[in-house]
Amino acid sequence: MRIKVLTLKNFRNYKEETFAFSEGLNVLYGRNAQGKTNCAEAVYYLCTGTSPRARKDRQMIRAGEESAHIAALAESRFGEVRIEADIRESGRELRINGEKIVRNADLLGNLRGVFFSPDELRLVQGGPEERRRFLNVSISQLSKSYYTALVRYNKILGQRNALLKERSVSMILETLPVWDAQLCAFAAELVRRREEYIARLAPLAAEKHAYLTDGAEKLEVFADRCIVGDDVAKALAKELEANYEKDIRLGFTTAGPHRDDLKILINGTEARVYGSQGQARTAALAFKLAEIAIFRDVAGEPPVLVLDDVMSELDLPRRRKLLAEVEGVQTVLTCTHTEKVLFGKEVNKIRIVNGAIRR
Ligand SMILES: Nc1ncnc2c1ncn2[C@@H]1O[C@H](COP(=O)(O)OP(=O)(O)O)[C@@H](O)[C@H]1O
Ligand SMILES: [Mg+2]
Repeated sequence: MRIKVLTLKNFRNYKEETFAFSEGLNVLYGRNAQGKTNCAEAVYYLCTGTSPRARKDRQMIRAGEESAHIAALAESRFGEVRIEADIRESGRELRINGEKIVRNADLLGNLRGVFFSPDELRLVQGGPEERRRFLNVSISQLSKSYYTALVRYNKILGQRNALLKERSVSMILETLPVWDAQLCAFAAELVRRREEYIARLAPLAAEKHAYLTDGAEKLEVFADRCIVGDDVAKALAKELEANYEKDIRLGFTTAGPHRDDLKILINGTEARVYGSQGQARTAALAFKLAEIAIFRDVAGEPPVLVLDDVMSELDLPRRRKLLAEVEGVQTVLTCTHTEKVLFGKEVNKIRIVNGAIRR
């Protein structure tokens, strides 16, 4: 999978710019605050339908303008696809090959991307929500039905939590079972898909980590589920019922896959608590390399890889290893200095100055 052409109009600090990407390594370079990460963000948006950093879509509209436009001409093994997003104050419109799509689920899978930036250290060092976010974004790109189950689960969870804050306890107790039956069905789907994904991820991440550390460190990844047992729907139903009083007291739902986590161990100890910054970075990178391998397996072709500002934080041997790993994967790499990261590789160098390509 690859992006042939990316067009940005009134997106962040871009007025109008067109990027012609090569199949291999595309290096966006330039000083700070010129628009490199903005370009990476646009790619992420077309892959997932969300921004990795803007809380509101409208933040991506160029200051003083009314709408932003992102478009990619991409190519997968099924042929060419044109993906467009118009972002306005009032909302956004997505189109695939000119046809408007209503559900974000229908965007997913048209363009698959793996993203790595210094922020991804959160994956190892942050709270459980960061690891769930990783799982959700990654699995959703592979499975529309996972994404759909996730959206429905979250919706019902929100309704259940709102109910728990009502005044009348008898009304709450009467209504809870209605929500819970639906919640449990979607929960089971989420847990099942995550299990499948983690079963693929764990050995691959361990392998990539061993490669990055020349076998000096051992990475282990486990699912840390809130609800254990084979029949998740049944086990959760029981747990929810047992928690009625507690949930009413606290005003939110205390059990379910929205509390799941991943356990990440390096040499047998928990990376989040005991790992160094360097170890966390290597582990996060191992996750991303594993993610590429999963996408390649499941989708039958590699995803687009975005490496935003990560080279300067890796030592030379790791940079070399990373570049060797991404051979054959279309990569958009951003950095401030090109010479030290490239080792004379054949690359498409693009210099960004103040929201424009300097030709
Ligand atoms: N909505 C917006 N409208 C105009 N400029 C923006 C908008 N959002 C961000 N910017 C500008 O984009 C620049 C940051 O771009 P970024 O891609 O993060 O830089 P870098 O090249 O360091 O990765 C800043 O100058 C910021 O002011
Ligand atoms: Mg940046």
